Amino acid sequence: MLSSINAVVWVSLILGAHGFIGFNQTPTKPWLQRHIRETSEADNCIAPKIENGKFNLLGVMEDAAVDSVPAGTIISISCGKGYIPIPDHTLSHCNAGQWSPPLPICKQTCPAFKSTDDTEVTCRYLGRKVSCNAAIDHTQAEFKCNRYHRLSTTENVRYCFEGTWNEEKPTCEPVCGEKRVHPEQLIIEGKIVERGNYPWTIAIYKRKTNGYNLVCGGTLINQRVIVTAAHCVTDKEGEKFDKAIYRIAAGKYYLSYDDPRDVGAEFSEIEEIHTHVDYKGTVYDYDNDIAVLVTKEAFNITEFIQRVCMDFNQLSLYEVQLLGTNGTVAFSLKIPSSIA
Ligand SMILES: *[C@@H]1O[C@H](CO)[C@@H](O)[C@H](O)[C@H]1NC(C)=O
Ligand SMILES: *[C@@H]1O[C@H](CO)[C@@H](O)[C@H](O)[C@H]1NC(C)=O
Repeated sequence: MLSSINAVVWVSLILGAHGFIGFNQTPTKPWLQRHIRETSEADNCIAPKIENGKFNLLGVMEDAAVDSVPAGTIISISCGKGYIPIPDHTLSHCNAGQWSPPLPICKQTCPAFKSTDDTEVTCRYLGRKVSCNAAIDHTQAEFKCNRYHRLSTTENVRYCFEGTWNEEKPTCEPVCGEKRVHPEQLIIEGKIVERGNYPWTIAIYKRKTNGYNLVCGGTLINQRVIVTAAHCVTDKEGEKFDKAIYRIAAGKYYLSYDDPRDVGAEFSEIEEIHTHVDYKGTVYDYDNDIAVLVTKEAFNITEFIQRVCMDFNQLSLYEVQLLGTNGTVAFSLKIPSSIA
């Protein structure tokens, strides 16, 4: 139906472009008569008022103040920024006093939603899949997180109404604290080690003459932030070593830095080292022995690389029992917002 209407519009358009449509012109070919009839004032169309858009009469230069246009006139509608024509045709022609197909309305659209590596968004309008770039009233956008990610909110659908979504776009955050693999038990140097059992554990390596030595472990807080002990990255007095001598590895299983069997391991240099302000080195009995490392590259959340759970909204104080005496562990991290 629509395509046959469009065909009429296009035939008229081509004819118009060739100057065949005129009031006093009699079509010379019989097939033209199907579309072009004797016209009269009664067949004129009222020039439309397009809210949030405008129209042009095709082939007519000055269309500013037209009230009424003759039959056969073709009109092209364009909507303003942030508006799209519904239904989505932009051409219409004047046929026996009516615009045919009926003129579209310029509808306001909601800001575009795009799928990302972590987030997949699907838009539907009246149950039909549509683009999320130009959603109109009553369009639903459904968000899904990709593997190892979870939505920041419980509601995963957003509704477009009058140019705005009912709620902000949800974000997908890497899940934390979950083991991804069923540990396979292996025996290495007499000890049972289970691969993938602690996917938030990272390894810190330090450069030696040829290659790297494992010096410490650490915990992945987010894709670029690691908590470890301050003594791992400082000298006896608590002075930080040059960050360039370190490499961080995640998703590793075998100890040596570049063991080829560690398929899926990821490596990064260190961008920043932050030690506790009151860490004064091993000479002070390791008091405040904590450090936060920021890696140059973001680790990808995979089967073997996961972050641990942290509550950044609270300063956590834990009463712990150490060697028969009670102590308090205070823990608070300030993560730069650019990497949080
Ligand atoms: C994460 O994946 C991207 C894309 O495959 C890759 O370029 C990047 O190096 C990975 N990150 C790390 C730390 O290996
Ligand atoms: C440690 O804390 C527990 C629980 O608050 C208390 O019962 C115990 O007496 C404390 N021990 C010492 C050594 O203070």
